[in-house]
Amino acid sequence: MIESNPSLASLIDSASAAVAELSGHAARWRAAAPGRVNLIGEHTDYNQGWVLPMAIDRYTAMAAAPGVPGQIRVRSLAMAEERSLSLDQLHTPHRDPWMRYVQGVIAQYDRRGVRCPGLDVAVVSSVPPGGGLSSSAALELATAHLLEAVTGQTLTPAERIQASVQAEREMAGVPCGIMDQTVVELAESGQVLLLDCADQTSHSVPLGLQAPALLVIDTGVSHSLAEGAYAQRRAECEQASALLGVNTLRDVRSEQLARLKGEVVVHQRATHVVSENERVRDAVAAIAQGQWDRLGMLMRASHRSLRDDYEVSCRELDLLAELATAERGVYGARMTGGGFGGCAIVLVETDQLEAVAGSVSGQYDDRIGWAPGCYRVQASAGAREICAAL
Ligand code: GLA
Repeated sequence: MIESNPSLASLIDSASAAVAELSGHAARWRAAAPGRVNLIGEHTDYNQGWVLPMAIDRYTAMAAAPGVPGQIRVRSLAMAEERSLSLDQLHTPHRDPWMRYVQGVIAQYDRRGVRCPGLDVAVVSSVPPGGGLSSSAALELATAHLLEAVTGQTLTPAERIQASVQAEREMAGVPCGIMDQTVVELAESGQVLLLDCADQTSHSVPLGLQAPALLVIDTGVSHSLAEGAYAQRRAECEQASALLGVNTLRDVRSEQLARLKGEVVVHQRATHVVSENERVRDAVAAIAQGQWDRLGMLMRASHRSLRDDYEVSCRELDLLAELATAERGVYGARMTGGGFGGCAIVLVETDQLEAVAGSVSGQYDDRIGWAPGCYRVQASAGAREICAAL
């Protein structure tokens, strides 16, 4: 029922073998980056608030060998496709959306004076694409580290994060916040990352050996309204800040929200952001004290707020959260990531993991018509640490 996570070493070996087959030369450079889940703190990053994500033990691995000058050939085992990109067309978005993440990062490095030579590249990934586990940030940061290995020119972690965020915004056209790229780069094994999105400072928070397990359940849907709705939520938050006379919703306390009462939708959006920021700080205290019931309660409240006030959930996510929460051994469950599909995350006693995955998946299948993907995830190292060790 629970799919096993392939090891990072096996992914790197597959990428190396694939590039050798593509180019006829042995792989010379390698890089990898993990996917992520967000424990709590959703849609707060672009409001300069707090988030609490972690990197997971699912990865995108890349290997490269020298290629034809002026050209990048990329073979993606995940997409079962091979594409090429002309290095003199770095700024015209590639016709294949997944290639734009690779292209976007190469273009950002180019802008910073790091020129990519002709390359053959293979990409292998255990991060489900489009599943809300940041497959895009994993591809961006793996590309960034690969490019640094190839050129021998390195950026700082902060610059690498910035280049990846800009690649996503400009080339993929998603006005994302900084959470995904930051945690994918900076995460440490066994820890969640408390990130203050205003000044971009972060602290690792250890989960501890007694922590319950984390189960990710993938709805298998990605609703097409997601991108427009994301930009719309950002605009509504900006409207709320303007009405309240503050720069960002980070600066708002719950007592001030009453001033938005006349603006129903804007009031709802701001209520979510303000209460979610409080939940993140509460969650850090709950983790430090090993209060898993309290963390579960905060996760459930976060889901309700995203469903009712922020309106970024969907039928499938609500069903998963509801089914999981009703199971024995489950502390809490919520949607994770941008919403409108993707994954739910469940905090569950380790010895109940298989039973919960089996029961939720069976009931979901009966109601929706297909079995969801189930993965146990562990808090893992970020790209910076992984690539330093390669
Ligand atoms: C997406 C974005 C992030 C963040 C989340 C919602 O994953 O890429 O920046 O806004 O949605 O928390």
